[in-house]
Amino acid sequence: MERTQVIIPPQALERQRDFTARIAAHNAQAGKTPLALVETFGCQQNVADSQRIMGMLRDMGCAFTEDPRRADLIVINTCAIRENAEKRVYGTLGQLTHTKAENPEQIICLCGCMAQQPSVADKVRQSYRHVDLVFGPQALWKFPELLYGVYTQRRRIFSIDDEPGTIAEGLPVVRESSIKAWVSIMYGCNNFCSYCIVPYVRGRERSREAKDILAEVRELVEAGYKDITLLGQNVNSYGKDLPEPMDFADLLAAIDEIPGDYYIRFMTSHPKDATEKLFDTMARCKHVARQLHLPVQSGNSRVLRAMNRGYTREKYLEKLRCARSVMPDLVLTSDIIIGFPGETEAEAMDTVSLVEEVRYDALFTFIYSPRPGTPAAKLPDPATREEKQVWFDKLLEAQNRISAEIHQSYVGKTLRVLVDGESGDARWPLQSRTEGGRLVHLTGDKSAIGSFVQAKILDSNTWALFGEIEP
Ligand code: SAH
Ligand code: SF4
Ligand code: F3S
Repeated sequence: MERTQVIIPPQALERQRDFTARIAAHNAQAGKTPLALVETFGCQQNVADSQRIMGMLRDMGCAFTEDPRRADLIVINTCAIRENAEKRVYGTLGQLTHTKAENPEQIICLCGCMAQQPSVADKVRQSYRHVDLVFGPQALWKFPELLYGVYTQRRRIFSIDDEPGTIAEGLPVVRESSIKAWVSIMYGCNNFCSYCIVPYVRGRERSREAKDILAEVRELVEAGYKDITLLGQNVNSYGKDLPEPMDFADLLAAIDEIPGDYYIRFMTSHPKDATEKLFDTMARCKHVARQLHLPVQSGNSRVLRAMNRGYTREKYLEKLRCARSVMPDLVLTSDIIIGFPGETEAEAMDTVSLVEEVRYDALFTFIYSPRPGTPAAKLPDPATREEKQVWFDKLLEAQNRISAEIHQSYVGKTLRVLVDGESGDARWPLQSRTEGGRLVHLTGDKSAIGSFVQAKILDSNTWALFGEIEP
């Protein structure tokens, strides 16, 4: 069956642990603790992957640094979603020629979504000769073996086979905080939105077994984590590929049974697969935050069809009505692309009108960036960058006004928030999040970090709320 080939067998993972142990033994013998730097671009999925890479590096005996000049080993985990993301990575790689010149023993690894593209691998092969190891997301679990190869064979290694994708359970992990954690519940994407590179670099959709996800969440809750985000490119299609199909709403309900004081969030939901059952489950489950990131991309049905999104403007709005009818206090966010090839000004303004109608709490907005190899990149794109920028600015203007208005309506209220760190702002030194994921800066003492408190909201702006902890 196809499924059994997707899961990396335990013996293969054991073999990787053996490579890790060999590297660790070598480091111990040499009496040194190598310093590693892991730099991450892109989405939470990449952040979660980097935490696994750091887990493997820690098991190899490495400590971590943020200074590229001191690092013995540098891993750049890349993103290919827009041209800008790629440019930043090439910029970083360019800078590393200097650190490598100072320290020729330094090992430089390039991984993540960019690395999975053959054209990128070719460019790195030819023009970035200081890069020692290149591997895509599909090869993440093999990192110890690949690195061992670089050390022992003293040659450059490229592992970017276009595999349909795998699931590796039980990889080690270094989590960034003891409050928030990411849990991947599935990998890959089958949607092939016409502008998007993700399905080409992350392989086909595959779900982790519910028992493995439940065990990981239980472990996190028992360790005191309070804010857990389930990750997948389209969590709403979770479970379709499992031998015993289980849908995402059922998974949420099963997680909700785990006792403790914590919130579960998830991203991303694809609107075409968001169901009434999901909204009802969210409304009913105690631990599921009333927060929904439901990327609309465009407010015009012709553009949505050209994007291959699988819903119309009307259908999307209908789903939101359904969600809000069971969760009136739902915090809602979205992603939007302005300037899809062939989009007219009127169509872009349909997106602005949708934003006005929905009144999102916040938006992630992007100007379309052609991704070679995707169908949209072949479409005629007559609008100029300047025109698109004007449409984009109108969208931002509308959203900033709406966010500021929504935030203003919170002033005077008291909300339950989770204090998750320091804000860096002298007047409001603490940073916290509401159940809906809204940012609240607080006065108060560092000892509150990691706990839920009641916050009285005193002020607000477009980006955040400001308040004090109520005794
Ligand atoms: N799986 C998620 C999105 C992952 S990518 C989903 O379907 O919602 C994050 C966002 O990047 C997308 O929602 C989209 O708004 C944006 N994006 C993707 N490809 C893009 C491109 N070629 N140009 C500009 N923005 C893009
Ligand atoms: Fe890209 Fe669409 Fe998949 Fe999201 S659902 S990752 S936008 S192809
Ligand atoms: Fe970027 Fe890959 Fe995420 S392309 S947005 S890092 S899935």
